[in-house]
Amino acid sequence: MTTMTASTAFKAIPLQNTVAKTNRPISLNFASSKGLPKGDHFVRSSPIYFGKESLVEKKMKQLREQVGKLDDLGAAEALGHWDMETRMPSGSGEARGALLTTLSETKHKKLTSKSLGNLIEVLQKKENFQQLSPIDQAIVKEVGRNHTKAKKLPSNFVTEYSKTATEGHEAWVKAREANDFEIFAPSLEKLVALNRQEAKLLGYQEHPYDALLDNFEEGMTVAQLDPIFDALRKEIVPLLKAIVDSPIKPNTNFIGNGKKYGQKSQFRFSEYLLKKMGFDFKRGRMDVAIHPFTTSFGAPLDVRITTRFKPDDLRESIGSTVHEGGHALYEQGVSPKLFRTGLAEGTSMGMHESQSRLWENQVAQSKPFWEHFLPQLKKRFPKQLDGVSVEQFYGVINDVKPSFIRTDADEVTYNLHIMLRYEIEKELIEGRIEVKDLPKIWNKKMEEYLGVTPDSDLNGVLQDVHWSSGSFGYFPTYALGNLYAAQIFNTAKKEMPELESQIETGKLLPLKQWLNKNIHDVGKMETAETIAKRVTGETLNPTYFMDYLWQKYGELYNLKRPSL
Ligand code: CO
Repeated sequence: MTTMTASTAFKAIPLQNTVAKTNRPISLNFASSKGLPKGDHFVRSSPIYFGKESLVEKKMKQLREQVGKLDDLGAAEALGHWDMETRMPSGSGEARGALLTTLSETKHKKLTSKSLGNLIEVLQKKENFQQLSPIDQAIVKEVGRNHTKAKKLPSNFVTEYSKTATEGHEAWVKAREANDFEIFAPSLEKLVALNRQEAKLLGYQEHPYDALLDNFEEGMTVAQLDPIFDALRKEIVPLLKAIVDSPIKPNTNFIGNGKKYGQKSQFRFSEYLLKKMGFDFKRGRMDVAIHPFTTSFGAPLDVRITTRFKPDDLRESIGSTVHEGGHALYEQGVSPKLFRTGLAEGTSMGMHESQSRLWENQVAQSKPFWEHFLPQLKKRFPKQLDGVSVEQFYGVINDVKPSFIRTDADEVTYNLHIMLRYEIEKELIEGRIEVKDLPKIWNKKMEEYLGVTPDSDLNGVLQDVHWSSGSFGYFPTYALGNLYAAQIFNTAKKEMPELESQIETGKLLPLKQWLNKNIHDVGKMETAETIAKRVTGETLNPTYFMDYLWQKYGELYNLKRPSL
């Protein structure tokens, strides 16, 4: 699932390896008893005012109340989704659908209401805005942005969209069952048309796709993405080819081969990893779901993840748990001062994904990490892992293989899967290609970038849930996450010379605390770009990711980086 921003709130949300977000509940009295800052705007059951409350103070207090309620509604929605994915009985779908629709409509109504608009207008006036604290200024900005966006979409458009997305999702499920893209094509055509209309309604400067990108990554544009992806493509395609041609292949004898890893033990190991990462089980929990995700109901006070298991392949639960754990540390790490302000969440999908990828790839797929954790894993699976060395394990968890399916992709091929989708989305929105030609276009690009041709639409153009509900502009944030992760980890290593040896001895808390302080604490008070600049000294730069890939895979596959 994903961030419920103003304009995406009505869209059904993809549930694959992403962060499910919405917002925060919990009574204020509870909050005050849990050590949240007092005397601020949070908790005033019987307010005491020294002197006369100014108009600005009064309006700001009212706005905070409204924003808190919007967060509560979002939290209720997220709770409904979380339950649906983890515990809800199979026959209860209709009831849940009605509940979630009502919550979503109520939220949209509240967000676009005149009374909220008036409060925002007053507080946005320069002379009033200047009197506000930095947090209050950020609240006004964020809710103002969401209000303006939501107002641009007429309610009949939202209803039409929501209906088409539901039908689209059903058609996609049927098309997958029949392995037949044509069943889904008419719905997808409608969804593309609606997305074009949405771009027009929201407005854009240069490219209609910019308006859609902004729903997931504030301020991101085609003009910024194109050169980034060009640079990546130029290096990744030859790197992949060199790896495929390399005679070095990891020995995967402890995956499959009749080896079984009990789910209970895998679950316990996942819990152990989360604890080592600093996940707070008093403010969160882990459950099992088909598609792993992270969600929160009142961050940073209730943040939950789900994971999944394969009985014959440990990599599934380890990867999913650490990935979602990274998302969860972000939400748990937001300052408690931001609770119920509309700001207690990750600043963008790309930055959020960077936190999950950093833990999943840079940390939990590194050799130092397994120096410490392989012996721990062996304690739980002594027979299955008998004779497996750290080198062998490290090689296997970094096995690079071009494959059809994005969610199974390794670090090297992953961004190629994203580029393909980005290019198709952009051209669909531009009207340069047609939905009916997608299977052909998809397969051609797969051959070009990954050197493989999907054996079916099921393993090709029909594989992702995103388009079934019309989520265009989402995919690029996955790639941004990979790039930000490499850039941020590079800075972390410089600022913490001990980092590698800490990881090697299983001490993960210093890294978590560094991320808390530098990335998580500010929540949505700063944009992804501002955070990157403040922490790493520059805006998004794909060089760090390519350096990271070449260093790691150059060594693993004995390759030399060609000069470009
Ligand atoms: Co994710």
